[in-house]
Amino acid sequence: MLLKDFLRDGEKALEGLYPAAEARSIMLMLCEAIVGTKSYTHIIEPSFTIPHKDESTLLEALRRLSEGEPVQYVIGRTDFCGNSFRVTPDVLIPRPETEILCREAIRTGSRMSASRSAFGKDAQPVRILDLCTGSGCIAWTMALNIPRCRVLGVDISDAALEVARSQTFPGSAPGPDFRPPVFMKADVLDPGTVFDGGPFDLILSNPPYVMDSQKAQMRPNVLDNEPHLALFVPDDDPLKFYRSIAAISHEYLAEGGEGLTEINDLLGKETSEVFSAAGFSRVSLLKDLFGRNRFVSYAR
Ligand SMILES: C[S@@+](CC[C@H](N)C(=O)[O-])C[C@H]1O[C@@H](n2cnc3c(N)ncnc32)[C@H](O)[C@@H]1O
Repeated sequence: MLLKDFLRDGEKALEGLYPAAEARSIMLMLCEAIVGTKSYTHIIEPSFTIPHKDESTLLEALRRLSEGEPVQYVIGRTDFCGNSFRVTPDVLIPRPETEILCREAIRTGSRMSASRSAFGKDAQPVRILDLCTGSGCIAWTMALNIPRCRVLGVDISDAALEVARSQTFPGSAPGPDFRPPVFMKADVLDPGTVFDGGPFDLILSNPPYVMDSQKAQMRPNVLDNEPHLALFVPDDDPLKFYRSIAAISHEYLAEGGEGLTEINDLLGKETSEVFSAAGFSRVSLLKDLFGRNRFVSYAR
């Protein structure tokens, strides 16, 4: 089978599910992951033939794609903050806006780490808590980018924790003080949960925040494939995770520490009020690249 023919047939099969440009980039991603071709291979080498050993894998992958399964689940990986993360249908596929949260947190955490470096070997590591960790994308990104940090990632889902613990990054070369995150099963909504290793200098979270009533505006392939436990909150209590995150932060945020959480852009003002009401005096709304209120940062 010629690569260019498979790409053409695949784009046709995905026609009703995705706009043409997206269908094309999904097919190119698939071929890159399975065959190792580049986005231009079929152009510079029109006679490129797909190796026989890859044909059945590609056809099975195309069948799953044409049933609406996201390409990241079909490939089993996604790129996030410069690393390739394992993803399965048990975890949310990390989103580009969460990369903004990570970049902000890396800046703050690295500053904290640098200000302690004068203490040499005795310097206290930057301690980070990632609530609702899912694939562990935030926790691992912190561990790989902030010198001498210690990260605890927490999730209620055993299956998500299995994915978070299994991440490996063969290409990356973390520094000598690198420690992988520790992952713990716990219910963030349970006021009795104890978080070991605190107080924490950074408390980060991307909790479930999509209201049930917003389901109607979501793409069917997200609704049908991504875990609802990771996405949805009831319309009559959409801020329940933020009340818990604020209460946890009240107890576990270190002196001089900062919190940063991703939010529902429809509830920016209401979400910041949760943190103000919990006693944090420096509460700010941060925007994403489209100018929408997508994060709340808070400190005492
Ligand atoms: C929006 S996903 C975020 C995953 C990941 N941090 C990311 O940014 O891609 C929310 C995560 O919260 C977890 N979760 C849902 N309810 C929870 C609870 N009560 N306690 C702890 N984690 C919970 C889900 O299993 C899911 O992994």
